[in-house]
Amino acid sequence: MEVKADSRKYYEIECDALVVGVFEGEAHNEGVLADLDKRIGGVLASLVENGEFAGKSSESAYIHNTGEMKARRLLLLGAGKREDFTAENVRKMAGTAARSLRGKKARTFAFLRRSDLAISDSAQAATEGALWALFDADKYHTSDKTENHLEAMILATDGGELETVKTGIERGRIIAEAANFGREVINEPSNVMTPTALAQKAEDLAKDFGLELDVLDEARMKDLGMGSLLGVAQGSAEPAKMIVLRYTPKADSEETIAIVGKGVTFDTGGISIKPADGMEKMKYDMAGGATTLAAMRAIAQLKPSVNVIGIVPAVENMPGGRAQRPGDVVRAMTGKTIEVINTDAEGRLILADAVAYARKLGATRIVDLATLTGAVSIALGDIYVAILGNNQEWIDAVIAAAKKSGEKLWQLPLDKEYREQIKSEIADIKNIGGRKAGTITGAYFIREFVEDTPWAHLDIAGTAWNDSNKPHLSVGPTGVCVRTLVNLVCG
Ligand code: BES
Ligand code: ZN
Ligand code: ZN
Repeated sequence: MEVKADSRKYYEIECDALVVGVFEGEAHNEGVLADLDKRIGGVLASLVENGEFAGKSSESAYIHNTGEMKARRLLLLGAGKREDFTAENVRKMAGTAARSLRGKKARTFAFLRRSDLAISDSAQAATEGALWALFDADKYHTSDKTENHLEAMILATDGGELETVKTGIERGRIIAEAANFGREVINEPSNVMTPTALAQKAEDLAKDFGLELDVLDEARMKDLGMGSLLGVAQGSAEPAKMIVLRYTPKADSEETIAIVGKGVTFDTGGISIKPADGMEKMKYDMAGGATTLAAMRAIAQLKPSVNVIGIVPAVENMPGGRAQRPGDVVRAMTGKTIEVINTDAEGRLILADAVAYARKLGATRIVDLATLTGAVSIALGDIYVAILGNNQEWIDAVIAAAKKSGEKLWQLPLDKEYREQIKSEIADIKNIGGRKAGTITGAYFIREFVEDTPWAHLDIAGTAWNDSNKPHLSVGPTGVCVRTLVNLVCG
């Protein structure tokens, strides 16, 4: 779907539907709503007066007879309280409009700006929301596929500068298309999206968007001493890959941000095998890696003036005759020895070598993303991403980037006392820390390998997959953290 800006009056825009947000308790007999209501013959007034529509978020009304407007239908969406309104509401409303109008076979719809958010932010959010909402996880349906006739969303500038709206649209499109690319990759089943296939996706990105690519095979990883990652990979017939994408606008700069994403293309748990129930979902255990690729795609297009490396350790975690066993001791690239107590705590094992490699490549700041622990869902559900790290300034920068993008991050502590839980009698460290504070001990393990480099860790296990259809979001990969990463790097 195309997104366009249009500086004509909202009632002059020819389209299948006009979408108008109405705030809770907003007077329908003043300003633009009064004008609108006159054109539709007082339908808004009667809806409000009969208590059918009060502007609460999640409310909607679909009006067929649009009277003196060029739009063939009118979709009123509750915008909630004006004082609580943010760009995130714009995203959700544009997304809800896109999904609901798609279901009504619309080809075009116009979206009227109603808030006093900055014009380009509002255009960006509307673009992101609508394009995000039109993603579906139904690639493999051969029948009953969701029909989509939508050709264009038109943003009515409502007196705003046309060019400013276009700038917002452009940025929104780049980010949403990158996220949807990542979501497609996450949604692929593990028989398709192997570590090799993931590396191929990175190669396509490198070619299409002008990034530098290096893919380390197992032999090179062995030479580098990545015993922690290779221990996880050894049970699988699929060879592991360490994918490295580089964006280097300032070759002489000392600053390099590394984005590192867990790329376990399937997590059976290994010898510490997972229960069968729900195991199919472990295809999304590479969401951190796909999100890293998605962010690099957007960064390559938005061209910020900071060096960025995207690193994806990609492996499949399988049981089998060659698989690593509980009790095995492996040596990571930094030289630290690890007692593998549970082969299902594999994400931290591959990230240990990946963050160390990021440092070797010159990273001065690291942010990693991983579907690392089931425990994060217990702590924060599917609403907040957990953030932990070793440097409050860097953590605050990531939180600020998330705030700007409407994504929710909640910091968990990472005090030194938690180190006790991953102490091993046998090796320098062990890979699990018992039942208590699972998300924290998982992060602490990674911390041991970033040493003194400022680092933030995002546990997206609870938020990377959406379990039920929502008005603005389909079941499947959510694309969480793409916007945060892009804002972090691009400002
Ligand atoms: N990939 C899982 C974490 C996960 C769980 C992601 C649910 C998405 C949804 C991870 O590798 C894992 O198995 N973690 C274990 C760690 C435990 C053995 C310490 C877990 O959370 O149970
Ligand atoms: Zn696991
Ligand atoms: Zn895992």
